[in-house]
Amino acid sequence: MRRIRLGVNIDHVATIRNARGEAYPDPSRAAELALVAGADGITAHLREDRRHISDSDIDALAALCRKRGRPLNLEMAVTAEMEAIALAHRPHAACLVPERREEVTTEGGLDVAGQHNRVAPVVANLKAAGIRVSLFIEPDPVQIAAAAAVGAQVVELHTGAYCLAVRERRPDADRLLAALREGAAQAAALGLEVHAGHGIDYETVSAVAVIPEIAELNIGHFLIGEAIFIGLDAAIRRMRALMDAARGEAAA
Ligand code: PXP
Repeated sequence: MRRIRLGVNIDHVATIRNARGEAYPDPSRAAELALVAGADGITAHLREDRRHISDSDIDALAALCRKRGRPLNLEMAVTAEMEAIALAHRPHAACLVPERREEVTTEGGLDVAGQHNRVAPVVANLKAAGIRVSLFIEPDPVQIAAAAAVGAQVVELHTGAYCLAVRERRPDADRLLAALREGAAQAAALGLEVHAGHGIDYETVSAVAVIPEIAELNIGHFLIGEAIFIGLDAAIRRMRALMDAARGEAAA
């Protein structure tokens, strides 16, 4: 089976930095370390309220990824401001996400089906600038079809509901995993590259990574938390090994 890529989201290094208004810990240093530890790319979410990643972090991360020849995946809301920032930086990929200021984290997928006319021009403009466009959506057949219709090249399936159900030992975890499996198959059949992410930890990664159509996982919060105990390098290497084992490959 094809090797699965790991994108490491370093947002929460900035959360810790911003808690004290200091210049450390530096998300770019974490990104550099993540690439050495086995991350294939770096993911960062520049939120409208700049609660973690800042504009200057994006400048630094874009420069780092360019220098290292690795992809930067910019997570962004569908707004004119974020579109302008993406067009100025031209990251390898942009992942369009829903954003509500009062939410603690990205709570659900983007409603592509209900917002076709808002999403379509942004997708077109980013693609025209050579940016690979991903849409962060629920594994819902209607949203997947809408993502294809709007011209996205990639869908990132939201794994948050499944991961939470596993952590809470809820019986609907199996149904939520089946939805991810079916969504990945549907998206791939429509010609979309399939990514997945949100809420993934060591316990949930294998069941997601084994889904054959999934080309990339984006993982952040758990890895940064685990880094407190075992270090970022070891946390990423263990995640990478679990992903490879799920795909039946020898751990890197
Ligand atoms: N993918 C997307 C689109 C996200 O918005 C996030 C959270 O920023 C992640 C992946 C990573 O989620 P987590 O930090 O829970 O691993």
